[in-house]
Amino acid sequence: MIDRRDPATGLGYYVGFDGNAVVIVLNPEHVDAVLESTVVHMLHGLRPASVAFFGQKVLFVLEGGEWQELRQLMRPAFTRDMIPGMVGDTAAKAGVWADVLAPYADSGTPIDMVLAASMYHLSSVSLASFHHDLGCIERFEDGPNAINRAFEFMLTELPRRAFAGEGTPLQCDFESENEDNRRWREAASTVRDEISAIVAARHAAVAHGDSVPPDIMGAMLGSYADARKQQGLAPPSVEELVADVGDNLVEMLFAGYNTVVNVIANGLFFLAREPKWFKPLQEEIDAVCGGRVPTAADVPKLDLCRSLFMESLRLAPPAAVLGRQLSEDLQLGGVMLPKGTEICLPAFAAHLNEAAWGLSAPAFDLRRFAKGAPQPPAGAFIPFSGGRRACMGQHFAELEAVCAFAVLLQQYTFKVPDDYNWSLIFTGFGYRPLDPANACVGLRLIPVGRA
Ligand code: HEM
Repeated sequence: MIDRRDPATGLGYYVGFDGNAVVIVLNPEHVDAVLESTVVHMLHGLRPASVAFFGQKVLFVLEGGEWQELRQLMRPAFTRDMIPGMVGDTAAKAGVWADVLAPYADSGTPIDMVLAASMYHLSSVSLASFHHDLGCIERFEDGPNAINRAFEFMLTELPRRAFAGEGTPLQCDFESENEDNRRWREAASTVRDEISAIVAARHAAVAHGDSVPPDIMGAMLGSYADARKQQGLAPPSVEELVADVGDNLVEMLFAGYNTVVNVIANGLFFLAREPKWFKPLQEEIDAVCGGRVPTAADVPKLDLCRSLFMESLRLAPPAAVLGRQLSEDLQLGGVMLPKGTEICLPAFAAHLNEAAWGLSAPAFDLRRFAKGAPQPPAGAFIPFSGGRRACMGQHFAELEAVCAFAVLLQQYTFKVPDDYNWSLIFTGFGYRPLDPANACVGLRLIPVGRA
């Protein structure tokens, strides 16, 4: 990937598809300086793909004042205070996932944990964030539902287009009338229609004065309605809510689908490869949860489960590479990079940097994130990026993963089947586990019931 690299500054560059040089920044201090100084994304082909799937008004693709305004509006929905209210629903769905594993454990049959994690994610996030149960993991044996299939289509179609060949219209054209784009739009509509119905139902419930439990969707819709009130506008109609907030709710479903799902599956895989960690994890979970699913009071005490989440993020960051475009001149290691320079921040390399993590950087070790362990320097651990444009959903992602680990590991350990080869594929939106010998399989593990 790197065309040139200067050993003195750690700066390098490669020439992108469009012929522009992209500067690669590896030194943690420089990574931090970039993330702190600029919020402008470098998205290239991802922008048209994202717009065609999620719409124009999604935070991820907005820039400048529009981005700032929407980020401000979404902030109340994404505070840590929302977490305790989400634990019950999330842990309950993890419990359903544990039940799904029972027959596989009894028969010693491998199960695709990426698929199972994606169904757990859709069930838990829809219930905890929207109070609308998509009911996916409970129907695991029926196979992926329409939303699963739409997201899976997107995650396979994107790399197919990205590697279609340099300069091919397929890469960036999601608008023209052709079969590829028709299928893309169909997948997008499947998810958007479901979310629109959920928003409409919430709007009707509020209009009828029904009591609605506080959740992320309520906070986002409320924040949007308040903003309109401050501008002297009438309360939003359901169509306006769907148009202005709905796409970001679709994006929320996907933000975790594309990330936390892989972190959970990879975390269990790393454990299965290093089984000595099962015992301390299970001892912690038993001591904290005492045989039941975690409560809001338990979650902050599950330190090793949190370490597993962090170590999985470190070794296989779903957002493996971050892209920025400098909004001001920036001096890095004595080199002046002018405004407009495109920057690539490879998280996967930052996370294996031996100067920051020690010689054992490639090894899986839950002690790295234990309470009191030395912290890596700023810029050496960037799974959620950093600065003002950092991921808004990191607390929710952590909750989803910690609940899954606490509930599944209470009942099972896991084994890697002899014929499974773990690898990571870059989908365009992120890194996902995959067996290269069997591209249909994400991550197969055999659950083993606890004696
Ligand atoms: C382990 C799971 C996750 C990882 C690794 C992750 C990582 C990221 C990264 C790297 C970005 C890009 C930030 C940038 O460009 O600087 C991002 C953006 C974002 N993420 Fe996450 N994410 C995760 C889960 C979630 C979840 C569950 C949600 C929602 C509930 C979420 C909501 C968002 C939003 C709204 C943005 C856009 C922020 C902006 O553009 O201002 N993420 N995430």
